[in-house]
Amino acid sequence: MEHDTGGVSTLSTKIVVNGTPQELTHDVRTTLLDALRDHLGVTSAKKGCDHGQCGACTVLVDGRRVVSCLSLTASLDGTEVVTAEGLGSPEDLSDLQQAFVDRDGLQCGYCTPGQVCSAQAMLAEAAAGMPSHVTDPSALADPDAALELSDAEIRERMSGNLCRCGAYVNIVAAIRDTAAQRAAATGASEEETS
Ligand code: FES
Ligand code: FES
Repeated sequence: MEHDTGGVSTLSTKIVVNGTPQELTHDVRTTLLDALRDHLGVTSAKKGCDHGQCGACTVLVDGRRVVSCLSLTASLDGTEVVTAEGLGSPEDLSDLQQAFVDRDGLQCGYCTPGQVCSAQAMLAEAAAGMPSHVTDPSALADPDAALELSDAEIRERMSGNLCRCGAYVNIVAAIRDTAAQRAAATGASEEETS
């Protein structure tokens, strides 16, 4: 809904953030990153560059990763947004968040919420058989099969998320561990049902 506020155009947008419905009244130019941080106090998404270049602001919108600094809130009416807070809590970390802890996949931690959100979506993309730029075409014979995540695959798929501390080796290890754990869990549940 558009409001006339004497020359400044504002809009109302309804989104669900980490499971909670929210109605925002905002300037038409407000990005999702600013809506999260300044309107809703959801601060895990970080403003690194504000130009779509670092990935620190990565969140999930309807399960897909987006750089929230380049996403206009006005375009997201009716969507579901998940940030690192929505993946797990300090008392109940997600498997991926725990793997980052176990593998020391961070130093200052500034990039980490974006890394975790990006990795969460990336793991789902690979599990759904979506290829990356470095996927061997022979791996695509079965379009529904999950793709194995080599370190090269993980690095390529995470290349939009920069880490100024250079924690890449341990970030890759954390994602590799999580992919293996999830694949093992999927295999075990398939065996149980067969
Ligand atoms: S702050 Fe959004 S990509 Fe850097
Ligand atoms: S842990 Fe410091 S920027 Fe990545």
